[in-house]
Amino acid sequence: MTKTLSGKVALVTGGSRGLGAVAAAALAEAGADVAISYVASEGKAAAVVETLKAKGVRALAIQADQGDPTTAEHVIRDLLEHFGKLDILVNNAAVAWQGKSIDDPEIDNAAMDRQWSINTLGVIANIRSACKVMTDGGRIISIGSGLGTRIAFPGTTDYAATKAAVVAYSKGAARDLGPRNITVNVVQAGIMDTEMAAGSKDNLPPIIMESHAIQRFATLDEVASAILYLAGPSAGFITGTVLDVNGGFTA
Ligand SMILES: NC(=O)c1ccc[n+]([C@@H]2O[C@H](COP(=O)([O-])OP(=O)(O)OC[C@H]3O[C@@H](n4cnc5c(N)ncnc54)[C@H](OP(=O)(O)O)[C@@H]3O)[C@@H](O)[C@H]2O)c1
Repeated sequence: MTKTLSGKVALVTGGSRGLGAVAAAALAEAGADVAISYVASEGKAAAVVETLKAKGVRALAIQADQGDPTTAEHVIRDLLEHFGKLDILVNNAAVAWQGKSIDDPEIDNAAMDRQWSINTLGVIANIRSACKVMTDGGRIISIGSGLGTRIAFPGTTDYAATKAAVVAYSKGAARDLGPRNITVNVVQAGIMDTEMAAGSKDNLPPIIMESHAIQRFATLDEVASAILYLAGPSAGFITGTVLDVNGGFTA
C-alpha cells in the first residue's frame, strides 16, 4: 500500500476494539502514527498498540472516559506530549444503549443521558480540543450511523439523535475550520458485527435488514476504507458532508 499518510499523526477514539481498532490499523498501514483512546479495555488497547507498532509506526494508548467531556483536553495534551502534533481525529468511540420506547416505564433515562454525554458532548469536546492544535489541512472524521438520518424502526430515539447532532455540529465545524483547510465529515456506518452489535446478528428484527438495499452487515474494512479515504490527500475538498457506508439504509 502507498504510504499516503507518512508523517501524519492520528487520534482514533475508541480504538481498543471494533471499528476503531480496524480504522487505527488502516491509518497505520498508510504510514500514520496513531494514538487510540479507550475507557476500560486496557489489555485490548495495549494489544492494538503492539499491532500498530509492528507496522513500523509510533503508537500510543490513552485511557479516558469520553462521557466526561473535560477529559478531552487531557487526551489531546498526552497526544501532543508524545507525538508533537495532531493531523487527523477519528471520533469513533460511542455506545448504543437503545431498544426501549421513550414511554416505556423501564427506560433508564440516566443511561440515556450518559449516552448523550459519550456520543455527543464527548465528541464535541474532542473536536473543540483537537481543532485548537490541529495542523492546517487536518482532518476530522466522526463516525455516525444511518440512524442519524433515517429512523426506520422504534426504540432508537436517543442513540439516533446523538448521532444526528454530531452531523449538524460537523457541518458547522466545517464552516468554522474551512479557512484552515481542515475538513470535517461524518461516516454513517451500517450495522457491523462488533461488540456493540453483540447478539443482534442472529436475532435481528426483519425490518432492520429489510430497510437496507444491500441486506447484510457492513464489514469493518468497508467502513475503515471510507475513513482512510477522508483522512487522505485525495479528499482535501470534501467537507461538511456525510458519507453513508450502510448498504443503502438511508437511500
Ligand atoms: N456496530 C454497529 O453496528 C454500528 C452501526 C452504526 C454505527 N456504529 C458506530 O461505529 C462506531 C464504532 O462502533 P463499534 O461497533 O466498533 O463499537 P464497539 O465495538 O462497542 O467499541 C466501542 C469503542 O468505544 C470505546 N468507548 C466506549 N465508551 C467509551 C467511553 N465512555 N470513553 C471512551 N471510549 C469509549 C470502547 O472502549 P473500551 O474497549 O475501553 O470499552 C471501544 O474502543 C461508534 O461510533 C458506533 O456508534 C456502529
